[in-house]
Amino acid sequence: MELPFAESWKIKMVEPIRKSTREEREQWIKEAYYNVFQLKSEQVYIDLITDSGTGSMSDRQWAALMLGDESYAGASSFFNLKETIQKITGFEYVIPTHQGRAAENVLFSYLVKEGNVIPGNSHFDTTKGHIEARKAVALDCTIDDAKNTQLELPFKGNVDIKKLEDALQKYSDRIPFIIVTITNNTAGGQPVSMQNMKDVRALANKYNKPVLFDSARFAENAYFIKTREEGYQNKTIKEICLETFALADGMTMSAKKDGIVNMGGFIATRKEEWFEGAKGYCVQYEGYLTYGGMNGRDMNALAVGLDENTEFDNLETRIQQVAYLAQRLDEFGIPYQRPAGGHAIFVDAPKVLTHVPKEEFPAQTLTVELYLEAGIRGCEIGYLLADRDPITRENRFGGIDLLRLAIPRRVYTNNHMDVIAVALKNVFDRRETITRGVRIAWEAPIMRHFTVKLEKL
Ligand code: F0G
Repeated sequence: MELPFAESWKIKMVEPIRKSTREEREQWIKEAYYNVFQLKSEQVYIDLITDSGTGSMSDRQWAALMLGDESYAGASSFFNLKETIQKITGFEYVIPTHQGRAAENVLFSYLVKEGNVIPGNSHFDTTKGHIEARKAVALDCTIDDAKNTQLELPFKGNVDIKKLEDALQKYSDRIPFIIVTITNNTAGGQPVSMQNMKDVRALANKYNKPVLFDSARFAENAYFIKTREEGYQNKTIKEICLETFALADGMTMSAKKDGIVNMGGFIATRKEEWFEGAKGYCVQYEGYLTYGGMNGRDMNALAVGLDENTEFDNLETRIQQVAYLAQRLDEFGIPYQRPAGGHAIFVDAPKVLTHVPKEEFPAQTLTVELYLEAGIRGCEIGYLLADRDPITRENRFGGIDLLRLAIPRRVYTNNHMDVIAVALKNVFDRRETITRGVRIAWEAPIMRHFTVKLEKL
């Protein structure tokens, strides 16, 4: 008999978590204005709000922390990190930042000007925010198939090459760079194929534009290339990463995902001009160039995390767990963005809550229902997060409305996955009784989902 699959690690330290009663949760979510970002973590049993900064570090990472060099300038921890990044990405220049959006802020302060257009595949909300705040446009060129949640495609995060070329022709002088997000978080943690990145590179060369990779989950993307794309089965994850980054001019990184640290980020590039242009903004916004908002110990831990998480076994354990949750949802017929993504399951809320109109935010409503059911905190990646159009101020209902169940790395067991699946099934079973959603009582002008106050209808 073939041995079953099991994790490539064992557990050395545990953190207790606590269940609550439905009455408690009803009170807490009301006090939080039906916005799960406003809940306290101890009001949550299983926390799937994000996979960002919520992973468990390894014993090697904790050991590296103790060797952190906290020197203001020239810390050995910076050089450890820089060498690791150079080895994994091939990029020569490295600017550390305190997280991914800080990397965006520093680099975009140099690259993005009013009136610019930045084409890409489903820019993440902070990426879009940093572009729009500079009065530029984030132009989404994701393949249309990504919106059809029931279609099974191996690389559903891809850039639509035709849309990209149209944009390059139409806006040519207004485009400072092309951005490719690997994996494509907003479209469901869906990977981008090596072929697609090669096609983007070819177009970029034709129109003489640089390419930036938003690389928060680049290692998970490499895993999907290895397991799904012709010709990569026998390459190591590290070889695939090098081949990936050879197609870009630079990257912004939220190290809180595939770096498996609680806080951290960086910019890396082969363009001296980008490094020279951005470094002043690092000093201004983040800190001196050899720490950029990170502690020495955190840079050390990140160097180890990047090395560990570009190994196949670690990635396989992670992605198999997400696939396991998907398989449980399949048993119950619960619709989600297919196939399962790298870091999360994205439940197709309008297909579950068919009676809740889009104006009443089905995915947010489902997020609240799942919390009430079992204290499980997912988050809405849908109409609330899509914000309003900066010009017309209308709600953007054009995209997909999903409840994201983001799985922290090396944190929960498959028993927790079973609880999540059954809790969702219980909500699914009573879906016909859920006919009303939520209404916005107060919202911020930008990135409203974090602080929005809602009322239950
Ligand atoms: N890019 C992508 C693709 C992301 O998913 C995120 C963060 C960022 C950039 C920004 O990085 O948080 O370190 O500043 N995503 C988190 C999430 C918050 O929950 O998906 P950050």
